[in-house]
Amino acid sequence: MPQIKLINIVGARPQIIKASAISRAIRKHFSNDITEIIVHTGQHYDKEMSEVFFDELEIHKPHYNLGVGSAGHGRQTSMMITGIEEILIKEKPDCVLLYGDTNSTLAGALAASKLHFPVIHIEAGLRSFNKTMPEELNRIMSDHSSTLLFAPTNAAFKNLMNEGFRPENSPPYTIDNPKIYLTGDIMYDNTLFFAGLAEKKKAKFLEDMSLVKNNFVLVTIHRDNNTDDIVRLNEILVTLKTLAEEKNMMLVMPLHPRTIVSLKTKLRHLFDELEQSIHTRIIPPVSFLEMTLLEKNCRMIVTDSGGVQKESHFFKKPCIVLRNETEWIELVNNGTAKLVGADPVRIRNEFKNFMDLHSNLEYPGFYGDGKTAEFILNEILTMFEQG
Ligand code: UD1
Ligand code: UDP
Repeated sequence: MPQIKLINIVGARPQIIKASAISRAIRKHFSNDITEIIVHTGQHYDKEMSEVFFDELEIHKPHYNLGVGSAGHGRQTSMMITGIEEILIKEKPDCVLLYGDTNSTLAGALAASKLHFPVIHIEAGLRSFNKTMPEELNRIMSDHSSTLLFAPTNAAFKNLMNEGFRPENSPPYTIDNPKIYLTGDIMYDNTLFFAGLAEKKKAKFLEDMSLVKNNFVLVTIHRDNNTDDIVRLNEILVTLKTLAEEKNMMLVMPLHPRTIVSLKTKLRHLFDELEQSIHTRIIPPVSFLEMTLLEKNCRMIVTDSGGVQKESHFFKKPCIVLRNETEWIELVNNGTAKLVGADPVRIRNEFKNFMDLHSNLEYPGFYGDGKTAEFILNEILTMFEQG
């Protein structure tokens, strides 16, 4: 069979990390079968939001970078569509690979499906059932533009069936006759691969940060409804700061640039207080290996991130989710993740419960066997073999 040409579209931080699992599996198992072209939309562009991951996770530098940067949804997405369309016309790939639910995902899905290039969606089927989230719209539209859909969890697979996708479809697969798969999660592949490496390559990271194992809580906040609503942001941070003081814990907060901007411009007083407190440490975004060490060694995680929620599970840490709903519902059903929104009472209760909990929580294997990227690539090749 001739080599297939696959365009791998990334743009936001988590997509670059996810793409590393696919790139690694191509290099290791499929280098004779698949040529990979990496397109970076430029949605994330700060060194610590983009370049650091290419360097550290050994991903090929993007073959194309559209450099779209930050803008409103319409402008940002339309610039991406225009740029991706030009690349697709020039490169004529066999398929286009997309991750998750960002504006870069949506732009890739629209550009590729309208030019009739098969779209392959990794992390298909995830739903929050909250269409006020931009990500929910991006997910639904990307899934319904796809030919192969890889759902990472049972819940995601069921969501696809509820939206009319049929598991019994047979080849040839097309946008009108798509194939859905239940796979594991490629981020679990990454955690298995990088956790040991992080210990070796960043052996002194925790010491340099003066952090003691199990004596700090890792906090990330970046969802627009938390960062852009200063009442919510204020309540979350004031509540967490008070809890850290009461429990004599350190809060380590590698914050997304949009959170820092909100704090500095709209909550300057609180930002200064957090900077001065001995219980809170605001730091710039960290690399994936550093993040892995923080997750592995913390006492608990407080986050509104999708990826970090799952990583809390990989590292067997309780997780407080600063949202009212989650796509990773199995974590909540398992009792190891708690949805608290931005409600000070719920944050306080769950924080204290997890802190005082002495019985062991269980962390079943929800996310596959660590070989999901390999499985996905095999299925892509099979689709082309079947014609
Ligand atoms: C995006 C995704 C979100 C994902 C997140 C991962 C959409 C709609 N949202 O949200 O689903 O969880 O990425 O991190 O696609 N900024 C910088 N430097 C950067 C990037 C962003 O300063 O390198 C700041 C800018 O002020 C920008 C803001 O962050 O306006 C938001 O960036 P944007 O890419 O629009 O959305 P995210 O919040 O990062
Ligand atoms: N991450 C990182 N450094 C940070 C914060 C997050 O490497 O400072 C990683 C994290 O480990 C996870 C991914 O980025 O793999 C999650 O990205 P993010 O929270 O930005 O987006 P989401 O997953 O919510 O879309």
